[in-house]
Amino acid sequence: MLQGKSILLVVAGGIAAYKSLELIRRLRERGAAVRCILTRAAQEFVTPLSVATLSRERAFTDLFSLTDEHEIGHIRLARDCDLVVVAPATADLVTKAALGIADDLASTVLLATDRPLLLAPAMNHVMWNSPATQANIATLAARGAAVVGPNSGLLAEGETGVGRMAEPAEILAAIDRVLGGAGLLEGMRALVTSGPTHEPIDPVRYIANRSSGKQGHAIATALAALGARTTLVSGPVRLPDPRGVEVVHVETAEEMLAACLRALPADVAVCAAAVADWRVAAPAARKLKKAADAPPPSIALAPNPDILATLSRRDERRPRLVVGFAAETEDLVANARAKLLRKGCDWVLANDVSPGSGTFGGDSNAVHVVDAGDVESWPRMGKDEVARRLALRVAAALGRR
Ligand code: C5P
Repeated sequence: MLQGKSILLVVAGGIAAYKSLELIRRLRERGAAVRCILTRAAQEFVTPLSVATLSRERAFTDLFSLTDEHEIGHIRLARDCDLVVVAPATADLVTKAALGIADDLASTVLLATDRPLLLAPAMNHVMWNSPATQANIATLAARGAAVVGPNSGLLAEGETGVGRMAEPAEILAAIDRVLGGAGLLEGMRALVTSGPTHEPIDPVRYIANRSSGKQGHAIATALAALGARTTLVSGPVRLPDPRGVEVVHVETAEEMLAACLRALPADVAVCAAAVADWRVAAPAARKLKKAADAPPPSIALAPNPDILATLSRRDERRPRLVVGFAAETEDLVANARAKLLRKGCDWVLANDVSPGSGTFGGDSNAVHVVDAGDVESWPRMGKDEVARRLALRVAAALGRR
């Protein structure tokens, strides 16, 4: 059931647009609210009237229509939904979305949305197989878009090949998968670290940092929601244990490392914890006493193990995908790339934690996903949404989408 869900359907100009009418009808039957955007070319194949009749909402067509902007601006249109579906996704619209071109309502909405995206490509088989289209689809998939089809068969021009839009039933199933995400990571094991560590000075005092654990906990939740058997190794936080996740509570970096190693093997490890770089070399067994005229104690520090670097070591226990975070206040991407090499992990999510950014302890985050070759910058969004996108990207990297 899609009761209570709201879908933004972008219909681009291809003959398969007639199947989108059937898709609207079936989405409505299943309880979803459907809003539709028709590109100019789409209107050559289906009319705004038929779309409006089936969706029971007016069809949106024009970026610069004052009425549209008055009633509901394109930014709201892009975000007031649970999912954006592009069906048919033509080569042209796929290209615009990959490049971030925004020259009509449909492409502007695709650039402005922070919602999950599902593409149902439909085009001639030569266009589909062209390196340009394949690269653009790969770019969108790497950013977290789901793709359904295209299928192989007789194409409109009488040629046979891969290019037919997926059938409405297949698109509906893909919508269920994306919205529920159910089962994408079924059978996979995930390990996530979260929160700060506390490094004892004596039985009552410790060294700590301001990490809230919100991002790490959200990532564990999102991976579990996709079906991964997830272990969350958490430092001391004021958050409830996420449902459906095995949580191991630790205090120190050394305990965190030991718990992570016990949780292996894993297919993916995400190190979101703000692990203390140093521990107190020799914590006092008894509470340090202050004496009226004695000088304050000096505390000798020792380096902590690097959990991310340890998990990234190229041995048989290494998870297939290891993801780290880089909390930076300047030169985000350059520092993240250096960290990627230093730690040996596959991706680094760099985030700005300068004062005023609202990242540390806040509910939103703006990250750059840095891998060996590329940088993907995500707009500021809720930590839950960052987690969901990351989980989908993980699923794609593990061959599950
Ligand atoms: O070296 P730095 O602390 O900047 O690196 C941050 C990344 O490394 C994060 O992913 C963090 O979880 C991880 N890390 C770790 N163990 C440490 C230090 C950092 O896993 N001792």
